[in-house]
Amino acid sequence: MVSRVIPVDAFDLVIFGGTGDLARRKIFPGLYRRYLAGQMTAESRIIGAARAELTDIAFREMIAAAIDEFVPKERIDAATVAGFLERISYVPIDAKGDSGWAPLRAKMRPSIVRAFYFSVAPSLFGDLAERLHAHDIADKSSRIVVEKPFGRDLASAKALNSTLADHFREDQIYRIDHYLGKETVQNLMAVRFANILFEPLWKSEYIDHVQITVSETVDVEGRGAYYDKSGAMRDMVQNHMMQLLCLIAMEPPYHFDPNAVRDEKLKVIRALETVPSENIVRGQYLAGGGDGSYLEHSENPASKTESYIALKVNIANWRWKGTPFYLRTGKKLRARASEIAITFKAPPHSIFDDVQGARENVLVIRLQPNEGMNLIVMIKEPGPGGMRLMQVPLDMAFADALGEHSEDIPDAYERLIMDVIRGNQTLFMRGDEVEAAWAWADPVISGWEARGDKPQGYDPGSSGPEDALMLMHRDGRRWREIKG
Ligand code: BG6
Repeated sequence: MVSRVIPVDAFDLVIFGGTGDLARRKIFPGLYRRYLAGQMTAESRIIGAARAELTDIAFREMIAAAIDEFVPKERIDAATVAGFLERISYVPIDAKGDSGWAPLRAKMRPSIVRAFYFSVAPSLFGDLAERLHAHDIADKSSRIVVEKPFGRDLASAKALNSTLADHFREDQIYRIDHYLGKETVQNLMAVRFANILFEPLWKSEYIDHVQITVSETVDVEGRGAYYDKSGAMRDMVQNHMMQLLCLIAMEPPYHFDPNAVRDEKLKVIRALETVPSENIVRGQYLAGGGDGSYLEHSENPASKTESYIALKVNIANWRWKGTPFYLRTGKKLRARASEIAITFKAPPHSIFDDVQGARENVLVIRLQPNEGMNLIVMIKEPGPGGMRLMQVPLDMAFADALGEHSEDIPDAYERLIMDVIRGNQTLFMRGDEVEAAWAWADPVISGWEARGDKPQGYDPGSSGPEDALMLMHRDGRRWREIKG
């Protein structure tokens, strides 16, 4: 298999919030890897912009340290790092004032792709957008990249969209959901739309239910203040899990084209039914294993924020009527693993007597770690003694299928930033999609707030609160065991 790296056009990329955590952890290490791979060419320039008064040299030292910390040792090549750093400079800038903008403008080159990454608090989006235009830095072909959280409800998301729309067209705005940049998440579309095998069965007639799990072992990781205002619903479900659900549930787009794909996702979101309280389980981790509880990490000792949520979601359309989607995600759980499991119905009639145990096929798509696909099929139990059936996995790890090239797979941020430069919005959320997702999430959240529901405690290292098991058991189903 040949790994194909197609260099992108030369660019000037400005990273507002260039000294921040995301820039250090993801953006710069990702860009370095693309430079190493030959995708970012030597003609490109990256300009860090933030409040701190730093020289180019001090900023480059900071980026060198970030590469050292966040890029695996075997990918660090001193000469390549030096070459990459030469392409980086820094401008101290005042997002709310006028200082720094003229020097920034002086750095921008004509006739080169211009992109501006807003790796800053959403409250600054408007200031940045306005000044980019006032100082004649952004033009009609410039792109801006914005991060989640994109609002915390429908009203705030609309306000953000309209602020951005005052200065940029929708086709210039790249809203990142890093889940869409994950290789296996894109594989969902390849599996569904490049194979004839699954699509005829991809409907409620043949699919009993779908489980989407994003299980994390980490706690709120020093982000207690942000997280306590979000909780798992806003932090994971409204965005990442919603995107996964859409890719599983959407109709085939007519083409792999940004608007065709996003139109189909939008239709799914709009078809989601409001979730009644009996289909929601929220949890909060307790203390255990020497670690403090959620409440100890939070600044609010009476917090009712959920660090775990499980939901049964119904989609009101022809394809999915009667096939529930069960979603669950949480922190401080037993394993770090994300997967989607599509459980098919048992055959309508069995020609075999005495069939013991489960009879259904399951397609499991493992998103992380150990990315791959597993199709569980029924076979005859080997050996004499009559016809007995058993379930066996047809298990494929992508690393085995891809061999040595599995290491060349870019991480989500690398891919998404390159897509910005290429001008491809397929893997970015459109404004109407984000608003529709909030329109669905808002009544769910306001419902539990109005009821004053408290999350159920769960032990760290467990698989979540007891009630989440009941959500499945009462439907005669069970969660798959999640192994890291
Ligand atoms: C982020 C959330 O968007 O995604 C975090 O804010 C979460 O709380 C993270 O831990 C999970 O991402 P990944 O790529 O590690 O699954």
